[in-house]
Amino acid sequence: VIPAAGLGMRLAASSDRDPEPKALRLLEGRSLLARSAAVLAPLVEHVVVAAPGDRLDQVRRQLWDLAAPFVVVPGGRTRQASVGRALDAIDPSVELVLVHDAARPLVPRVLVERVIAALDDGSSAVVPGLAVADSLREETEVGSRPLDRSRVRAVQTPQGFRLEVLREAHRRADTFEATDDASLVELLGTVVTLVPGDPLAFKITRPLDLLLAETLLAGR
Ligand code: CTP
Ligand code: MG
Repeated sequence: VIPAAGLGMRLAASSDRDPEPKALRLLEGRSLLARSAAVLAPLVEHVVVAAPGDRLDQVRRQLWDLAAPFVVVPGGRTRQASVGRALDAIDPSVELVLVHDAARPLVPRVLVERVIAALDDGSSAVVPGLAVADSLREETEVGSRPLDRSRVRAVQTPQGFRLEVLREAHRRADTFEATDDASLVELLGTVVTLVPGDPLAFKITRPLDLLLAETLLAGR
């Protein structure tokens, strides 16, 4: 499942009132979505993309050479809603699902394989996590206090799940909003397995991230 229906407000210039949806923006001639999908496709049986509702045909055209069968469905107002709609398009006989942000186009294949391996080892929910480089502080009523950085991980995608677990989590979430899928399965009390993330799986969120991705691709 590739959520790709977001607008990318943090990436767009503040003067741009009607920006190109982030996942459809080009990086060295190829969209973020097409790049993300191309990494996942050889490792899965089907791809489901949640795309901006008014761009379904454009998205289908961008994926013409994908190495796996795919469907494109209209996304929702939030990432969670977009993933929920994509899950509805999956055949119930499917056992395992990966959810990967279109906005992480440089995700290395080995990271996807690591997540799949943990699912194959029996985990119901798998999340790549990276140590945080900065010191962390938590705001309090009077000021702030330090957080032990060695105890936390920054969460990436792809995240891997038994399909029934993720479906049930989305059903139960109701009004609860989460920025990733692992936070939802937590509601069911499911143990979430952490595997080492990869710096190259960074999310293109702000202009600096796009610049980094361009620089990395130019150096290849
Ligand atoms: N996404 C989605 N549907 C939404 C919102 C987000 O499918 N309604 C997708 C994005 O396309 C992206 C991924 O979820 O691939 C991660 O979200 P984020 O980086 O926050 O992207 P945007 O929501 O597009 O960006 P912003 O929050 O800056 O507007
Ligand atoms: Mg967003």
